[in-house]
Amino acid sequence: MSNAKGAGLSNIIAGSTAISTVGVEGEGLNYRGYSIADLASKASFEEVAYLLFEGELPSKTELAILHELLAEKRNLPKELKNILEHIPKYAHPMDVLRTGTSALGCLEPEQDSTDQKDIAIRLLAIYPAMLLYWYHFHFSGRRIETNTEEKSIAGHFLALLKGHKPDELEVKVMDSSLTLYAEHEYNASTFAARVSASTLSDFYSAITTAIGTLRGPLHGGANEEAMLLIQDFSSVEEVEPKLKKRLANKEKIMGFGHRVYAKGDPRSPIIKEWSLQLAAQSNDTQIFPISEAIETMMWDTKKLFPNLDFYSASTYYFMNIPLALYTPIFVCSRITGWAAHIFEQRANNTLIRPSAYYIGPGARRFLALEKR
Ligand code: COA
Repeated sequence: MSNAKGAGLSNIIAGSTAISTVGVEGEGLNYRGYSIADLASKASFEEVAYLLFEGELPSKTELAILHELLAEKRNLPKELKNILEHIPKYAHPMDVLRTGTSALGCLEPEQDSTDQKDIAIRLLAIYPAMLLYWYHFHFSGRRIETNTEEKSIAGHFLALLKGHKPDELEVKVMDSSLTLYAEHEYNASTFAARVSASTLSDFYSAITTAIGTLRGPLHGGANEEAMLLIQDFSSVEEVEPKLKKRLANKEKIMGFGHRVYAKGDPRSPIIKEWSLQLAAQSNDTQIFPISEAIETMMWDTKKLFPNLDFYSASTYYFMNIPLALYTPIFVCSRITGWAAHIFEQRANNTLIRPSAYYIGPGARRFLALEKR
């Protein structure tokens, strides 16, 4: 990090939240007081979404209502399909979601009377279809049907991607992965969404801001970069010499380190375990061992631990998810955390407008153009 005063707002408390705690005592993560380990193994992603939106876990009836709403709100308006068809094939899918969100904000704008939760649920429901309609139109040459029989968002996503009923283990893993990515306090994209919401801008603008912020490789884009890194090694033996070279060149190794966690990312062992199970299911003898060799070397040489993005990369790889969709999956999940933060910001709003240390020239005499 740069040594400039105030750089990166590191260690600066920029507001309050009742949504999650990150890195208490260097390592924990709780959503509304519940540990990530419990949520990722015992709750569905839809229960987690409800928890983030409402502050409490749902009853059976409340969860059934949420499932009904999500199923109702999956449809893509024909104008949006048309826009998605016109976005180029080689656009980054994060740009597709950013543009799609913005377009939906024009088609179904937030009115003063709109319940903001309806928009949050609409976006949560529609993202898999928005992404995969565009994807299949350009890469499979098909206009897909965007409703599926899958009740869960995880199953719906995989069914749309694969065009058939998804594998049970894969649905479970995707569901858990969506929970792991759902919320993370004042991370860069959430903070960006709060800044946007604090100006009293509309819901879609705040989410569009967040997607643009998540796209960068130092944030959500790290899972794609981590996969490219892993694929750069063709054997475990190659890891040591090649990684040494990268570190000597002061390269950032994507999927390692964290601004807030000091001891470890509590999401990493959970996703690593899923990656291991999928590796076994797909008889992998390369990607997982190479990933572990990278993890060992990063710890031994730099004392850096893997963050959620590192083993998410191999997890998605084993599910045959195209690389460019890794970060958009993060959007399909993080929409829940972003929405919860927008609700919270709006409930007790103050314009977010920090100050800066001025490091430019002192006062200067202005010279008219003809005298310069
Ligand atoms: N690979 C190599 N070195 C790393 C590193 C990484 N992934 N993460 C941190 N470091 C090193 C830095 O080079 C720096 O070393 P220096 O003091 O010798 O210059 C030191 O550790 C501190 O790193 P810094 O980038 O200042 O910390 P930060 O708090 O600003 O960074 C991240 C946090 C996440 C941005 C950073 O760890 C990173 O870039 N990781 C890779 C991207 C990533 O995985 N992002 C997803 C986060 S969930």
